[in-house]
Amino acid sequence: MKRFIVMIVMLGVSGAFFCQTKPGSAKVAPNGQSIPEGFENWRLIAPSMRSDNNTIRAVLGNDAAIEAARTGRTNPWPDGAIMAKLVWKARFHEAWATATIPGDFVHVEFMEKNSKRLAQTGGWGFSRWLGKELKPYGKDADFAKECFGCHTPRKSSDYVFTFPAVIP
Ligand code: HEC
Repeated sequence: MKRFIVMIVMLGVSGAFFCQTKPGSAKVAPNGQSIPEGFENWRLIAPSMRSDNNTIRAVLGNDAAIEAARTGRTNPWPDGAIMAKLVWKARFHEAWATATIPGDFVHVEFMEKNSKRLAQTGGWGFSRWLGKELKPYGKDADFAKECFGCHTPRKSSDYVFTFPAVIP
């Protein structure tokens, strides 16, 4: 009986431990990409808006990407650079009708540069994570073809659309 209680307590403790790990940190996209740790604290490369689906976006970069963006070394982006694009539904500010601000969170997408390992998709590892629970997007690894396909017109800019915003 004692042993049984000890086991239950141990299960409880490990359960609490696993529940505390960040949502998504152990998740893997169908192409093997995972959620880069600490992306919430990355710095801004540029904001953007899409009028066709009424969303507002922020493209953030890890240290390697920020360093490259600030020094103009973005063609090609260096290996190790990762960009995150966070997308929200756009909405009007209750107190200022002409101000557009982020509403519901839609998804976050990543592009991670590794010119050798990810050569098949232009040297970039693509992944998309849906909703606040960060559900991996894509039925199988082929989902990345959809990303890569639409980014291919930007081949001469290393498959990247974003222009780093001017920051004094
Ligand atoms: C139909 C076209 C299209 C598809 C499909 C697409 N993208 Fe993009 N992506 C864009 C455009 C346009 C931008 C730049 C404008 C914006 O959204 O901010 C962009 C920007 C990005 C950025 C910021 C870096 C950059 O290139 O500017 C990331 C990261 C990104 N996309 C990831 C993905 C991932 C991951 C997928 C697949 C799951 C994907 N994209 C699929 C069109 C597309």
